[in-house]
Amino acid sequence: MDISKNPVAVFDSGMGGISVLREMAALMPNEDFIYYGDSANAPYGTKTLEEVRRLTIEHISRLLEDYKAKAVAVACNTATSAAVKKLRQLYPDIPLVGVEPAIKPAVLACEDARVLVMATPMTIREDKFQKLEHLYDQEGEIYELPCPGLMEFVENGVLSGPELHSFLQNLLDPYLDKDLTGIVLGCTHYPFLRKAIQEVAGPDIRLYDGGRGTAMELLRRMKLAGVDRKETDHKGEISFLNSSPDPALVDREKKLFSL
Ligand code: DGL
Repeated sequence: MDISKNPVAVFDSGMGGISVLREMAALMPNEDFIYYGDSANAPYGTKTLEEVRRLTIEHISRLLEDYKAKAVAVACNTATSAAVKKLRQLYPDIPLVGVEPAIKPAVLACEDARVLVMATPMTIREDKFQKLEHLYDQEGEIYELPCPGLMEFVENGVLSGPELHSFLQNLLDPYLDKDLTGIVLGCTHYPFLRKAIQEVAGPDIRLYDGGRGTAMELLRRMKLAGVDRKETDHKGEISFLNSSPDPALVDREKKLFSL
């Protein structure tokens, strides 16, 4: 059966995954996508591993079932660290990618790298992150910065302004005298705050996110499985869904996509 015309499912705890979806749609303009944000249960980053694993598996199983998704992107660092291993066991034949903080390019970008990783408390606490960090901790200085409360600005549509600025200032202040070379945006919500973070961090610190790399990896896996869409003249459609009953959230998802 040819499933190459089926959509790709992209999942996040809320609206952050749209930063990854944008990269995917740009790279694969002929693919259809279903975006699902679980804003009703967000944030994931301050929940337990078990809760996040249960929610992620529940939602992704339903997207596979109801929309016959041919491939899946877990566009959430927190959900990836909790559930990607289990999802691969459950769906070994589905091309499936997760996201992880872009520590590698940030650390390897220069000698004497000093890199701050911003992510949710759960992402930083989990094994997956600790192993990744350990792979590169000989190559440079890596500082961990759990950021509870930060994703909520994006969920609420606040991408600039004094409240966000002072929240970021308080978070980043203890690291701004460390002569940082890079900041890793280790949560898919944070690329929407790129401008505000850069303003607080200063222009010389480079910001890294893994969206583009994730999109490329998904395409590679889809090609390998032979499910990439072959007609180049099809204009891909994107459906936006959200677990919240408030219709304003789907509108916000669309707005973030078109920024
Ligand atoms: N967007 C999510 C991530 O990449 C997390 C936000 C949250 O639900 O705490 O980690």
